[in-house]
Amino acid sequence: ISTVEEMQRRSPMLRQDGRSIAFVPTMGFLHEGHLSLTREGRQLADILVVSNFDNPTQFAPGEDFATYPRDMGKDRLLTEKVPVDILFTPDERAIYGDGCQTFVTPQALAKRMCGLSRPIFFQGVATVVAKLFHIVNPHVAVFGEKDFQQLTIIRRMVKDLNFDVNIVGAATVRESDGLAMSSRNAYLKPGQRAAALSLSQSLREAQAQVAAGLIQAEQIVAGARARIGAHPETAIDYIVIVDPETLEEVAVIDRPVRMAMAVAVGTTRLIDNMPLVP
Ligand code: PAF
Repeated sequence: ISTVEEMQRRSPMLRQDGRSIAFVPTMGFLHEGHLSLTREGRQLADILVVSNFDNPTQFAPGEDFATYPRDMGKDRLLTEKVPVDILFTPDERAIYGDGCQTFVTPQALAKRMCGLSRPIFFQGVATVVAKLFHIVNPHVAVFGEKDFQQLTIIRRMVKDLNFDVNIVGAATVRESDGLAMSSRNAYLKPGQRAAALSLSQSLREAQAQVAAGLIQAEQIVAGARARIGAHPETAIDYIVIVDPETLEEVAVIDRPVRMAMAVAVGTTRLIDNMPLVP
């Protein structure tokens, strides 16, 4: 389905037939990480809708919207395998018409971590996800834990704006060497792999340190900074240990928390996170 009208006609028909709808929003260039979200969605409802929409409002001028990897032909083949019932592929005009004057602007949760270096990102995400929820009208929607701040913000938006949608977070899927799957991994040059792997390695090291009894967040973050910073082509945007609901930084790990980071490897911005459980 490529039109908003057709999607908005189909969804109530499915609901009237007593079918439950699971929804997985994506920006395309699907990889195993997306497929695990869709497989999760498949289990959760009768009908699985996947959207493939490159959302321009979550990219600032100068970010990689123009070059963001795309391959609709491959995406179609992959979604056939899951299988997906409805692939919703609106274009920019279908979603934003001749512009958009009304936005959903997340507050405090969006003003930290990725929100500091990407100040319009979460407004663009929240706006498009709200629009897609109105159009697809799902019972349940699945988001990856890899974008942990995004998942937290969507959960909060659903609560604050009374969407009747159950949000499910799905575990991050990793390459066999530990690199979190991401469409942007396609930008990495072969020689940058070791630097890219330092993110997941430092997170695992932090998990081991916490399991061994270290509870000072500052010390754990310093260790991760040293490990990642040892690779000259990395530039750390942030490394934080936060409360998983408020995303506020914690000093002492006396309860389950989340360690999250954004690091540029060359020109590729990577994010990753893992839980730390004392
Ligand atoms: O995570 C993504 O791929 C995007 O941010 C989303 C949720 C599809 C909104 O464009």
